[in-house]
Amino acid sequence: MTGGTSGIGLAALKRLQRNSGVQILIGARGKGAGVGKALPLDLERLTSVRRFAAAVEESLGAATIDCLVLNAGMQVGDTSHRTEDGFETTFAVNHLAHYLLLRLLQPSLSVGAIVVITTSNLHDPKTNPIAAPEHVDARKLARGEVELVSPPGPRSGIRAYAASKLCNLLTAQALMTSAFAKEKGVRVIAFNPGFIAGTRLTRHQPLTFKLPYTLIVPVLSVFQRMNTLEGAGKILADLALGEIAPPPGRFYASQVERELTWPDPSDVANDAAAVTKLWRDSAALVGLPVDAEHTLYPA
Ligand SMILES: NC(=O)c1ccc[n+]([C@@H]2O[C@H](COP(=O)([O-])OP(=O)(O)OC[C@H]3O[C@@H](n4cnc5c(N)ncnc54)[C@H](OP(=O)(O)O)[C@@H]3O)[C@@H](O)[C@H]2O)c1
Repeated sequence: MTGGTSGIGLAALKRLQRNSGVQILIGARGKGAGVGKALPLDLERLTSVRRFAAAVEESLGAATIDCLVLNAGMQVGDTSHRTEDGFETTFAVNHLAHYLLLRLLQPSLSVGAIVVITTSNLHDPKTNPIAAPEHVDARKLARGEVELVSPPGPRSGIRAYAASKLCNLLTAQALMTSAFAKEKGVRVIAFNPGFIAGTRLTRHQPLTFKLPYTLIVPVLSVFQRMNTLEGAGKILADLALGEIAPPPGRFYASQVERELTWPDPSDVANDAAAVTKLWRDSAALVGLPVDAEHTLYPA
């Protein structure tokens, strides 16, 4: 699991550890949160992702992965930040590093494994009219070019985040429709926890964004029936354990007003050409051969 040291992921881990049969490996920048075995992982560095994947394989020995939870995520205020690999940080952490991790760990997935990728309904212009993704071209996103129409400005950071979350959803679709997933019975779920107070997601945002989020949203959440941290953690844990299974043909698990729903993917996420292009472009960006492992490409 990635993103198990804070927020929704930590809430999920606390539930997962109640299940004595579950052995947990988490990728963490620090020591972890004392739940499961923490292995070093910094998603801002692709070399760290490769080392983490190798360490996971070593820890597994002859065992395989029953569930892979790709939950880590971050936001920044604008698109000026770059990782050591030279990619825009939001795109690199939220999408590209997770894409590489998925590709590297894919051979270690069990038959019937569950893969959960945490996305956000901010990916959808219908639920995010303020700073929706304007495109999902991986090469442009990697360069921080998130706007095609609007001028770059104070919304660029959130637009980059929204685009990265659209990438998460398209990656889930790509894996789900791949021959590999079908043959191996891998279940893929894209999880939208909805808007939740009390996590550290906005920690790198400017004060003008962070203050209303940290002060007003918790108050609003009492009156608005907003999703809660514990509720989202429980759903994430239940999805990971297979205790909540998608209805037939569904893969987008969206928590709305504390209830789990299984809507159709949004129009922007339901684009087969975008699914395949993102998969291929991401492979090229992380240095994987684009035409290798044909079974992993979306059908
Ligand atoms: N909160 C919301 O309203 C909301 C809504 C929709 C979707 N989401 C999604 O939910 C997921 C969890 O977010 P959250 O709200 O729980 O935020 P959070 O409290 O900030 O947790 C984020 C997690 O990601 C990890 N992470 C971030 N950057 C990393 C890096 N470079 N390398 C390794 N780990 C890194 C953090 O580790 P550290 O402890 O080392 O920082 C932490 O464990 C994210 O994917 C987010 O996009 C959140």
